[in-house]
Amino acid sequence: MKRAVTIAAALSVAASVAMAGNVVTAVKVGSLKGLKCGAKVIRKYAKFTPIAVYPQSTLHLNDKKANELNKDAKAKIVQVAALTDGKRVAIIMRWPDKSKDVFKGYKSDIYPDGFAVQFAANADKPEKLPYIGMGSDGRPVEIFLRKAYGQPVYEPNGNGDVAHQVNPHNAPYFGKDLKKFEKAVAKKGSKEYARAFVSEGFRSMSQIKDGSVKWRSDMHYVGKKGMWGGMIVKNIKDAYSKPSKNELAVAVAVWDGKELQRDGLKRLSSWIAVKLPHAKNKALEAVVNEQVKGDVANGKKQFEANCASCHNDRNFHNAPVYMAPDLSNIGGQATAAYLRESILDPNAVVVPGYNRNQHPNFAWYNVDKNGKRTSIMPPFNFLDKKTVDDIVAYLQTQKAEVAK
Ligand code: HEC
Repeated sequence: MKRAVTIAAALSVAASVAMAGNVVTAVKVGSLKGLKCGAKVIRKYAKFTPIAVYPQSTLHLNDKKANELNKDAKAKIVQVAALTDGKRVAIIMRWPDKSKDVFKGYKSDIYPDGFAVQFAANADKPEKLPYIGMGSDGRPVEIFLRKAYGQPVYEPNGNGDVAHQVNPHNAPYFGKDLKKFEKAVAKKGSKEYARAFVSEGFRSMSQIKDGSVKWRSDMHYVGKKGMWGGMIVKNIKDAYSKPSKNELAVAVAVWDGKELQRDGLKRLSSWIAVKLPHAKNKALEAVVNEQVKGDVANGKKQFEANCASCHNDRNFHNAPVYMAPDLSNIGGQATAAYLRESILDPNAVVVPGYNRNQHPNFAWYNVDKNGKRTSIMPPFNFLDKKTVDDIVAYLQTQKAEVAK
């Protein structure tokens, strides 16, 4: 009897998860000043929505061990909540991670756990949201990145450049000056790795250093539960992102240091609609939750005929690895609107791909004399609407299962 009740409860949880979708409702609170992970106001008011984050498999990293560790990586559930005090918004995350991996000095083989929160600069046209992997030409994103650092990061010149640090082994040459220098550096050095960026596609990230964005972050590991908590607080509207009809388009990512994850190797959500108080617009919500009802079996056939010569996914592995994005997790990270656009108009968003110097035979785009990129993928605008829907429905099945 008890067992049956438990199963029924589990089923009803699963059902409510499926219905909630990628929508987070921001709860209005008095003030977000000094907010930290585990604060009472979070425990009392935050409404968490389970959001699946999928391994980013678009590109293959040049690291055999990391690739091996991430080959069969599963998706994770990140619990995401939002609070607002009218002026600011806090995005709060909790996610499972069995080991706490923190950065220790400048050891190049240790990677820290971390998380990021990405805001679309603009969600006025939700069917044309930025490319989920750090924005795209003309569709920028604002990114807040926080990593688990066990000791202060000293950047004497403030550029993340540690090469100019004084080596303490040379202390005899510096004498008292070294102590003085180290003190000055410690004062200037940041105690944590927390950075804000604007980006229009990967390899175009640039750090916001002019102080135009006021934000804070916190990160906290609960060993007993094997869970990380993370949060960022920022102004709802700033120089790089603004809400549209009281809604924000947000995506979250987490890095697991144990799996040697860093840079693009991470788990990433699809776009989430964060509803601020008085959100009126349903368009963003509709876009982030659209599941296309198509004939998946026909979509797979069409994919094999039209796409599998360039793209690999969970079923097809015949294309050269560097040829085109690996679509094994595209269903977990892209909206249906993005997939449709990718098929009909590949130039709308051109995914940058590999370093063109290292892989000259596998450039994903050409550059014309004005510097404009055109995709090497042909537009499939000759396919009828039903066929496109079938392919999109098939692509939406392309995602890792969620780890138990
Ligand atoms: C000639 C090779 C080629 C063919 C054929 C091809 N693609 Fe592509 N595709 C690419 C390349 C290269 C890119 C990356 C550049 C860009 O964004 O257009 C890409 C990008 C994409 C993206 C965006 C991926 C991402 O990570 O955001 C999707 C989705 C996609 N293609 C789907 C398809 C589908 C579906 C078909 C078949 C109907 C197809 N492609 C046929 C080469 C190809």
